[in-house]
Amino acid sequence: MSVGVFDSGLGGLTVWDALTRRLPDVAFSYYADSAHAPYGTRTMEDVHGLTRDAVHAMWETSDLVVLACNTASAAALRRMQEAGVPEGKRVLGVFVPMIEALTERGWGDNTPPREVGVRQVALFATPATVASRAFQRELAFRAIGVDVEAQACGGLVDAIEDGDEALAEALVQAHVAALRRKMPAPDAAVLGCTHYPLVAEAFQRALGPEVRVLSQADIVAESLADYLERRPGMRGDGGARMVTTGDPETVSQRATQFLKRPLRFEGA
Ligand code: DGL
Repeated sequence: MSVGVFDSGLGGLTVWDALTRRLPDVAFSYYADSAHAPYGTRTMEDVHGLTRDAVHAMWETSDLVVLACNTASAAALRRMQEAGVPEGKRVLGVFVPMIEALTERGWGDNTPPREVGVRQVALFATPATVASRAFQRELAFRAIGVDVEAQACGGLVDAIEDGDEALAEALVQAHVAALRRKMPAPDAAVLGCTHYPLVAEAFQRALGPEVRVLSQADIVAESLADYLERRPGMRGDGGARMVTTGDPETVSQRATQFLKRPLRFEGA
């Protein structure tokens, strides 16, 4: 059994990469639902159904699945957990670790919401994640007095998946400018889509050095290391695979270009 990492496409590789570096002795599989990407422009119902089906397939080879996709986490995580998962299986998302980092909380700290160091937070995410308001809901459980302004970054996932750096940079600038019209001086910016770490520098350039840009990969890796320390039985014992519902040849090529190291996908 391996630990499963799920995304609609290539974005979750930023999390998979950080996980494999932080926990080199754990086998991490990867499942890219490339045939149905992008998720960020689909309805919540649609994203929930696709995510649930993929996670059920992943449970054949993984007891623990990490949704390395904010859109899937926003649409499906709570619903799947509430519906109940099979005995011995777990599914985790990428939202909560990021909010815990933003609100300076340790893993599983369930104390009442309190004032925190940040006041004005800009959230950059897919249209579906923004529409779900899941970030604001999870934040409200943990912090008070924080204003969140969300910017739906239409087109950015496609530009990143297509490897079109010039378009991605232009879209980042346009989305940051749109955000600034609503919130002129954020103290922190959350990159709430696992594709966006690939353009983190463009976000930092557009936002300026005074804005702290939080991106998820390392935060999630730290949080999972902590989780596996408490639940060593979930570490798995090998058999990592990279699978895609899309064309394995094309996905392997893009993934290799994406992480700048050779990656080979097989058909799901
Ligand atoms: N990488 C996914 C996320 O974190 C979104 C990609 C998509 O739109 O499919 O939200």
